[in-house]
Amino acid sequence: MIAPTVPDLPSQRAPVNEPVAGNYFVAAYPPFSAWDAAHSPGLHKALERPAPATPLGLYIHLPFCQKKCDYCYYLSYIAQPAAVVDQYLETVVRECALYAEQPGVKGRSLSFAYFGGGTPSSLSSTQVRQLVDGLRREFFWDGIEEVTFECAPRSVRPEFLETLREVGVTRLSMGVQSFDDELLRLNGRVHLAEDVVRAYALIRQTDFAWVNLDLMCGLLGETEAQWRESIRRVIALAPDGVTIYQTEIPHNTQLYRDVKAGVLPVAPLSWDTKRARLDEGFRELERAGYTIVSAYNAVKEPQRHRFLYQEYLWRGEDMLGLGVAAFGYFGGVHAQNEITLEQYEAAVARGELPVKRAFKLSEHDQVVREFVLQLKLGEVPLAPFRERFGVDLGIEFAKPLQALAAEGWLIVCREFVRLTRPGLLRVDRLLSHFYDSQFQDIRYT
Ligand SMILES: C[S@@+](CC[C@H](N)C(=O)[O-])C[C@H]1O[C@@H](n2cnc3c(N)ncnc32)[C@H](O)[C@@H]1O
Ligand code: SF4
Repeated sequence: MIAPTVPDLPSQRAPVNEPVAGNYFVAAYPPFSAWDAAHSPGLHKALERPAPATPLGLYIHLPFCQKKCDYCYYLSYIAQPAAVVDQYLETVVRECALYAEQPGVKGRSLSFAYFGGGTPSSLSSTQVRQLVDGLRREFFWDGIEEVTFECAPRSVRPEFLETLREVGVTRLSMGVQSFDDELLRLNGRVHLAEDVVRAYALIRQTDFAWVNLDLMCGLLGETEAQWRESIRRVIALAPDGVTIYQTEIPHNTQLYRDVKAGVLPVAPLSWDTKRARLDEGFRELERAGYTIVSAYNAVKEPQRHRFLYQEYLWRGEDMLGLGVAAFGYFGGVHAQNEITLEQYEAAVARGELPVKRAFKLSEHDQVVREFVLQLKLGEVPLAPFRERFGVDLGIEFAKPLQALAAEGWLIVCREFVRLTRPGLLRVDRLLSHFYDSQFQDIRYT
């Protein structure tokens, strides 16, 4: 047993000596720790404004898993009886009805829906049908362009996939993480590589427009040979898209507690190693004909690729977050729901929107938010910022852009900012350079 030293990551700003623990992936701006219940009225005000003619999406959090993976920081409840899940789904539909009657939402058609988790595929077919029927009663769903559903390999069943297709799922995303059984076990996963192969074959027999597989590089104990093999096997399956996450060690995970207690059989890998593995993965995917479309995603046919959930959300469009701890963004206001099942269900039962904390962004905050999120795509065109906000980002961000360009992380032209490959591999560490000074050194959550 070894007890590695693991300094905590106080903020998103890249320290000289990179630490091992803490969050990496930037999902929002300003960071979650700046959000507060005092901002919740801002969301209510935004919902009271007349409905705009812009895209609207739904994120639905389904917080149920068979077992908690050691590295996972998402809110999920383990092995819950069907009655608990049924009651939760009823609450989600009731929450949806609360939103549907708001002036800012009424009459709008949905552009996309994202069923995330947890493990959405742990639901039964009947539960999925009831949930989707309930959501469809509250929203115009017929013209919906994209419906994403997350799956875990063991819970993929033929009749369930048929149900997903029938309710209109277009984009299926499955968490593979690794093809090495020993590594999967060491990281607390319930599935084995053979489960992935079986599930993927079933998914391909059902007709989904887009199938994505998630991998994690730098899992605890991962060797270079194991990583290479995972990349080789994912390429052999030829999914439409591959997502690669660099393994984070967030503070609310078993992995973090084990690291701190010094009970792990091996030390977690450094960020340098994770970046090198991601780089190697991207190169192999490119060699196999894939195109890198963001800091995390490779796609087989870029001309056919759109990921509306990400595209619209990162461009500032509206998305309502439904379910316990769900995140939403509406009318320039970030919001997160109550973070325990009890508090969430109690608020909805009282007929209240179950919002725990929010953040109303100023116009400048919106510029920063959209720029940093879009930078994760590898290139940001600047004209839309001139047109929408009247700002020239080359001037607005002159200092951080020059500093990051001098370090070789990006290049700046009149019309766009483009990350270099080394910049893309560490993009989430660079983003805080563009933050307002008050948000630069605050905690992530
Ligand atoms: C909600 S899960 C996907 C669906 C399903 N629950 C599963 O795990 O197969 C979302 C994805 O987040 C990624 N993830 C979770 N914890 C992570 C961590 N600590 N570091 C990096 N990626 C992580 C995993 O790749 C996982 O597939
Ligand atoms: S990674 Fe997926 S299956 Fe594992 S605990 Fe997190 S949400 Fe559940």
